[in-house]
Amino acid sequence: MKVVSQAELEQHGTSGDTWIAVHGLVYDVSKFIPEHPGGGQVVQDCGGKDASEEFEDALHSTGARMEKSIILKGVLEGWEQKVESYRKLGWSESQGVPDPDHLKEKSSGFPVMAVGLAAGAVGAVALAFLMARSRGKQ
Ligand code: HEM
Repeated sequence: MKVVSQAELEQHGTSGDTWIAVHGLVYDVSKFIPEHPGGGQVVQDCGGKDASEEFEDALHSTGARMEKSIILKGVLEGWEQKVESYRKLGWSESQGVPDPDHLKEKSSGFPVMAVGLAAGAVGAVALAFLMARSRGKQ
């Protein structure tokens, strides 16, 4: 993926040529701005800047993250490793704007589930053992 410098991002902050960065990914949102359900101005105001906080504050849907008319230009300089870490947690370009909190949830889901299953299995064996022992005593 192309690395976009902070200076290059800042050069695209004008109306009709608007890039924003969300979680280290730089998107050209020029075509989308007139169609934005939250109004064009709020997105325009984030032009040439990092808009991660504003984007998440609006609680966007998965559909919004996958909006087709935004164009991924590259990774913002300094965010390369962060974006690599999203990839390791299962993110790819096809998912659109990453949802880092959700990515984290998914990765911790597996160990939690494994521990739960293991505890359940130990409990079942212990119960079977106790039942067998109490039957033997009668
Ligand atoms: C990648 C850029 C963006 C895309 C693709 C996008 C897309 C959307 C979509 C599809 C919706 C409709 C509701 C939903 O499906 O979640 C929405 C709503 C909204 N967006 Fe965005 N958005 C973007 C950036 C932003 C930014 C930077 C802000 C704030 C500065 C913002 C603020 C809002 C607000 C406040 C709403 C709620 C509108 C309402 O329900 O009245 N969006 N956006």
